[in-house]
Amino acid sequence: MEVQDILLQRRSVYPRQFSGQSIPKEALLKAFESANWAPTHKRTQPWRFIVYSGDPMNKLVDQWIMMAKRNTEAKGEAWTDVNAAKFDLMRKSSHILVLACHYSGLVPEVEETCATAAAVQNFWLSLQDQGYHGYWSTGNGIFGEEMHDWFGLAENEKALGYFLAGVAEGVIPPSVRKPVDGLIRWME
Ligand SMILES: Cc1cc2nc3c(=O)[nH]c(=O)nc-3n(C[C@H](O)[C@H](O)[C@H](O)COP(=O)(O)O)c2cc1C
Repeated sequence: MEVQDILLQRRSVYPRQFSGQSIPKEALLKAFESANWAPTHKRTQPWRFIVYSGDPMNKLVDQWIMMAKRNTEAKGEAWTDVNAAKFDLMRKSSHILVLACHYSGLVPEVEETCATAAAVQNFWLSLQDQGYHGYWSTGNGIFGEEMHDWFGLAENEKALGYFLAGVAEGVIPPSVRKPVDGLIRWME
């Protein structure tokens, strides 16, 4: 497939579309290899990935449920089966990644954040090119201290998101964009 087609066909695919099947480790390793070739100032390679599957992945989802239930009840609302069902769908992921950045101190933090985002995009495109899907999520307490500690990240590391990866079934809905013309200023 042409690179342009791969770029334009990338989609966020959510757990409600996952079959519950597993992505082979070789496919993930290939996608991580693509991630590792993202550009980085001073070649610090700041991206870090924590990969959960099986029992550890279920424990992560249990942790999300515990936090969501606590937040719901703190607002005086009841935790219902509907709330719980949303999280059970997430268990249809094959793997859940924590997308983290390791700040080396050698370049401004923003540069390593950007480089990690580029690595995630490489990962995502490679995964989809191999027939697997997922989406980048910034929910479930990803930026909070509680999850930072739960992941065992260091003080100079930060979680930038989760990537819920899975095997998709059914038709993947199209995405939309406003035209790029309005987002460019040509200074000619
Ligand atoms: C940094 C980042 C964080 C995101 N966080 C969420 C999220 O928390 N929940 C969600 O449903 N989608 C999230 N998304 C996915 C976007 O909603 C999605 O990319 C957008 O709707 C465009 O769809 P597409 O990726 O299929 O083109 C996130 C995407 C990025 C890049």
